[in-house]
Amino acid sequence: MEVVVVPTPEDAATLVADAYAALLRRTPAAVLGLATGSTPLPVYRELARRHRDEGLSFARARGFLLDEYVGLPTGHPERYREFIRTELEQHVDFAPGAIVGPGDLDVAPLEAGPAYEQLIREAGGIDLQILGIGTDGHLAFNMPMSSLSSRTRLKTLTPRTRHDNARFFDGDLDRVPTHCLTQGLATILDSRHAVMLGFGRGKAQAVREAVEGPLSSRWPASVLQLHPHATVVVDEDAASQLA
Ligand code: F6R
Repeated sequence: MEVVVVPTPEDAATLVADAYAALLRRTPAAVLGLATGSTPLPVYRELARRHRDEGLSFARARGFLLDEYVGLPTGHPERYREFIRTELEQHVDFAPGAIVGPGDLDVAPLEAGPAYEQLIREAGGIDLQILGIGTDGHLAFNMPMSSLSSRTRLKTLTPRTRHDNARFFDGDLDRVPTHCLTQGLATILDSRHAVMLGFGRGKAQAVREAVEGPLSSRWPASVLQLHPHATVVVDEDAASQLA
């Protein structure tokens, strides 16, 4: 695992966008793992800028979402597929249908995990997986105590996660979905390059546990210690508890 400490999220975005640009030059049909949340936004903005100003092209690339709520209708603003559409897809040149999330498959939620894994396998696996980290060390919707060998599956959202996310649903807990689909920790380990970003003091403990703590399902992001090519890009605040 390599750890890169940068002054600002924008510096991280430049670095990570460099990795995307190098990959897409080498492999125009690259397979990208896409995270939602606030953390990857500077990266997506920088990718959009490079597309606009420098011709960085995603025309042959494919994208697989990291996770999705279950039960939100297509086009719902809090659907992660919708988030990726508005924050990235609309600003670059992915081909229609090139991005898929675990909630987009025409199968029952319980069958969506294995079907999604198969789609990823058929695409040749994920070349570059971008990740955020939760303050409790969660990775995708793999909350503390998730199995380190988990694969894409249906999960019940914990009361804490539903409570935390209620702010995106006008504070109304009843509108927060009860279930989600998420890539598993072993799915994430299969990516060829995993890049985890963390910004701000609120992430400092989780980053320390992920990078320096013992490998433990208590801190799911520590699974990246097993990844053959993991890069952690953090700002100084998020790095403040590292030795
Ligand atoms: C995103 C995801 C989550 C977030 C994490 C951090 O697809 O699965 O694990 O990466 O909750 O969220 P932010 O980036 O909003 O701090």
